[in-house]
Amino acid sequence: MKFNQSLFFLALLILFIGWRCSEPEEKPVLEKRLLSQPGLIEVPFPKDNPLTAEKIAFGKSLFFDPRLSRNNQISCATCHRPDKAFTDGLTKSRGVNGQIAFRNAPSLLNSSFFKSYMYDGQVKTLEQQVLVPIQDHLEMGSSMKEVLQKLSKDSNYKRLAKSIFNRELDAYVITRAISSYERSLISRNSRFDRYRAGEKGVLNADEIAGWRLFSEKLYCTQCHSGSDFTNYAVVSNGLYSDYGSDQGRYRINGLEKERGTFKVPGLRNVSLTAPYMHDGSIQTLKEVIIHYSKGGAAFDNKSPIIKPFQLNNLEINQLESFLSALVDTSGVN
Ligand code: HEC
Ligand code: HEC
Repeated sequence: MKFNQSLFFLALLILFIGWRCSEPEEKPVLEKRLLSQPGLIEVPFPKDNPLTAEKIAFGKSLFFDPRLSRNNQISCATCHRPDKAFTDGLTKSRGVNGQIAFRNAPSLLNSSFFKSYMYDGQVKTLEQQVLVPIQDHLEMGSSMKEVLQKLSKDSNYKRLAKSIFNRELDAYVITRAISSYERSLISRNSRFDRYRAGEKGVLNADEIAGWRLFSEKLYCTQCHSGSDFTNYAVVSNGLYSDYGSDQGRYRINGLEKERGTFKVPGLRNVSLTAPYMHDGSIQTLKEVIIHYSKGGAAFDNKSPIIKPFQLNNLEINQLESFLSALVDTSGVN
């Protein structure tokens, strides 16, 4: 058989791409100076977007830049405010021209560690996610083309794109810079973390009792597990018996068994991120606990784990105290 050069190179290319894809994510140990957290923290990032201090700073300027929206009034930080653990305190966020966004804004702290993004869990990387709010007509209502037209006039951004990425300001630069800033938002030093690391006396007796309830007596850790208190499952916690205008992941894939299912949210900094649930329908942590104690609403797809339980007032307060011990915003820079 005659040697076919182009097929040979195609095979080489496929091998090369396959090899690149199977490479594990790098887990560098970043310096304390970069992430103001104690000790050294491993922050995962994709191989094609190494985390550097320069990129984080560039991404931060973009994150706070309202020119990413159609009317130049809404930045990422409008809905993800640092003082509210990168949420906005609203039931549902407000986008361009006062429009009400589809959902409640989740926290971005520790988003570098998340295994999936959005309440449907359908977005797999922070880089991809950046495109969503820019184009969402209820959020920033713009397009990458429009954003680039505006930002390309900014000589500082142009210079940074060249010096950091060695290319013109484009979608590649914007998505990689913003996601780098998001990766720098680490929250790993709550009083609860220090308690787990063996520091005595950082949690009081009620908070410790609340942790016992959360992890042993009740079923919370069957979903809110791991270092960010989520197992990333997409399930229904029985919020409604009819989810109305937001049917959760069903809207993505039309699968009946996914009607009313949402990604289990992480619980770090949860006392700063009210109101709660995908639609911000529950105002306080106490009301969340009461929701679970009633076993949620009757709903076909409700997770069988969610069952009624009884807690007295003291125990409700203890569980709430534990959840409040998960606050740590020292990594916000
Ligand atoms: C108008 C308000 C608004 C703006 C502006 C906005 N977001 Fe969001 N963000 C939201 C809402 C609401 C969600 C939840 C959407 C969903 O799950 O369907 C979200 C979800 C996210 C998530 C997923 C978090 C998770 O836990 O899964 C990330 C990451 C994110 N936004 C980053 C950004 C970035 C970066 C920008 C700027 C380019 C931005 N957002 C602009 C409201 C906003
Ligand atoms: C079967 C999985 C599952 C179990 C078990 C579970 N949750 Fe959840 N939790 C979820 C899901 C899914 C959501 C989001 C639902 C939505 O947005 O509609 C959620 C949301 C929350 C929220 C709101 C977070 C936010 O940022 O909006 C809190 C607080 C919470 N759960 C606490 C608890 C506590 C306390 C327990 C134990 C009593 C518990 N959960 C048990 C799946 C679970």
